[in-house]
Amino acid sequence: MATYLVFHLCLIMSNLIALASANMQASYGGGDENQPLFGTPPICPEAEAIVFSWVQTAIAEDPRMAASLLRLHFHDCFVNESHSVFCTFKVHRKVFMNMSEFLVLIQGCDASVLLDDNENFLGEKTAAPNVNSLRGFEVIDAIKSEIESVCPQTVSCADILAIAARDSVGLSGGPFWKVEFGRGDSISASKSAAQNNIPGPNSTVATLVSKFQNLGLSLRDMVALSGGHTLGKARCVTFSSRLLPNSGSPNEGANQEFIESLKQLCSVSGSGSTLAQLDIVTPATFDNQYYINLLSGEGLLQSDHVLVTGDHQTREIVENYAVDPVAFFEDFKQSMVKMGSLKPPAGTQTMIRTNCRTVS
Ligand code: HEM
Repeated sequence: MATYLVFHLCLIMSNLIALASANMQASYGGGDENQPLFGTPPICPEAEAIVFSWVQTAIAEDPRMAASLLRLHFHDCFVNESHSVFCTFKVHRKVFMNMSEFLVLIQGCDASVLLDDNENFLGEKTAAPNVNSLRGFEVIDAIKSEIESVCPQTVSCADILAIAARDSVGLSGGPFWKVEFGRGDSISASKSAAQNNIPGPNSTVATLVSKFQNLGLSLRDMVALSGGHTLGKARCVTFSSRLLPNSGSPNEGANQEFIESLKQLCSVSGSGSTLAQLDIVTPATFDNQYYINLLSGEGLLQSDHVLVTGDHQTREIVENYAVDPVAFFEDFKQSMVKMGSLKPPAGTQTMIRTNCRTVS
């Protein structure tokens, strides 16, 4: 029975890989260090305008969507896993051939976050950092569908995520940067990798630094990218540990009135899903107010607050961004480009999905 299952898994895997290869239009995804970031992608001149227009409409209908699309790209790029699938075939009762190995890679910005669960894997949508939390999937579907009608199998879902994140920031008052095309879409996804790689809201500075460094992102990148919390909302459940009596050292230096107001907010419904603004002063504007809030003890998540209390290096950077919005915008742009360039190693099979939710 086990052999039968493995055999079927192998057939499915080889079909997927064949399909992925057939769908590849260029040397997408992994690449050699001397090549441009993502190889030379096929061109769809209308793509950026289509993304911009959908993002603009989505934000007009729901201002929080800017935050949600930015976060979607972050959660896509942060999932990193490789595992092998070994295949044995049993033919005519003899254990016959064939140990072949498929290396399944889900690495970097590859739209793995958009895949629904299927018979081969549990996807990332139900992983703890994402479930009942990530938003914006329908906006990406709408963009993909229009782009497919204009330029079939040309622009990956991963590229759409990167451009939508950039436009969300720009449309909220933040900086603009060039997004390179050419990311490949993964042929798999991993709930466990999402769980392990994406930092949690009660993280210490050491944990945050190490989760970023695992992907080649520096402490400075981590502080700059945390500035994404100048937009959007978080559920009470993500910061409720800060509201317990005697919550102690993680709250050192926090503004007590702010903490009291959060207690009030979260106790009203009693449900952990009540929302608070990540930046209480300018919640829908992309600016450096997040860092000013951190210095006045009004960072919402513990992982925000520790940037000023947990480490002198991160505090210095926060102090700099709080007084120098231009420095923050410059660093944020650079770090977004760096994060958006995380990609699987050379030779990894990727594809351009026609529907971002399925390997198709
Ligand atoms: C440094 C580690 C980080 C941690 C621990 C963290 C954690 C969180 C948590 C717990 C939430 C609230 C989720 C919920 O209640 O459903 C959140 C929201 C958000 N995060 Fe982060 N995050 C981090 C880094 C980032 C980065 C790098 C970005 C983007 C560059 C980002 C962008 C956002 C945005 C925009 C929201 C609001 C989303 C919305 O309103 O839909 N975060 N984050």
